[in-house]
Amino acid sequence: GNDITRQEKQQAAAAALRWVRSGMQLGLGTGSTAAEFITLLGQAVRNGELQVEAVATSLASEKLARAVGIPLLPPRRGLRLDLTIDGADELDNQLQLIKGGGGALLREKVVATASDYLLIIADASKHVAQLGRFPLPLEVVPFALPWVLDAVADLGGAPKLRLDKTNPAEPARSDQGNLLVDCYFGALLNPPELAQQLQQIPGIVEHGLFLGLARAAVVAQADTTLVLQP
Ligand code: A5P
Repeated sequence: GNDITRQEKQQAAAAALRWVRSGMQLGLGTGSTAAEFITLLGQAVRNGELQVEAVATSLASEKLARAVGIPLLPPRRGLRLDLTIDGADELDNQLQLIKGGGGALLREKVVATASDYLLIIADASKHVAQLGRFPLPLEVVPFALPWVLDAVADLGGAPKLRLDKTNPAEPARSDQGNLLVDCYFGALLNPPELAQQLQQIPGIVEHGLFLGLARAAVVAQADTTLVLQP
């Protein structure tokens, strides 16, 4: 992204740090905005300003969290997270989200669901009137891929297998070793209905629509920070 976007991501991350209290068990998101937050949180932990533990939503965020000194928690039964801070590819005024541009949608949704509070941090470019300009990501079991592509095409989703960024001869893989499919539906007129249709297709492990999960969003635009609630 450009410098303005980068600065907005940092601004949103800094604002989100004010939601964190010592003693909290946190969920850490994935992507460039979440990485800004993890870096700032690490500073506060190393300074002794905050004492927290966290579950990471990807191997990349786990590595970063470890590097900046945030104590990590493995998943375990009965664990509820107080607060998860994550980015999004798109969010609307109802705080419906498209996520998964970074390929971490499955763990992100698991952690968001295990959290009492999901706080989204975003630059202004992510805030849209209607979801759907950003292609909707799916995580797909490799065996099922051809039939998933057929089923998504039948729904009008123009599916595209995501390729590895560094080696485009190979497909991209999630942290679970699954494939990622990006779907071009255009404007999503009825996200809950689409979510339900996608859930019925066997082989789709998870889709990137996050509905009814986000409790607030911090959106940074130029020098101002807006807090949105559904
Ligand atoms: C990761 O899978 C995504 O859900 C990210 O949260 C999303 O792609 C936002 O990433 P950026 O903060 O890098 O835009």
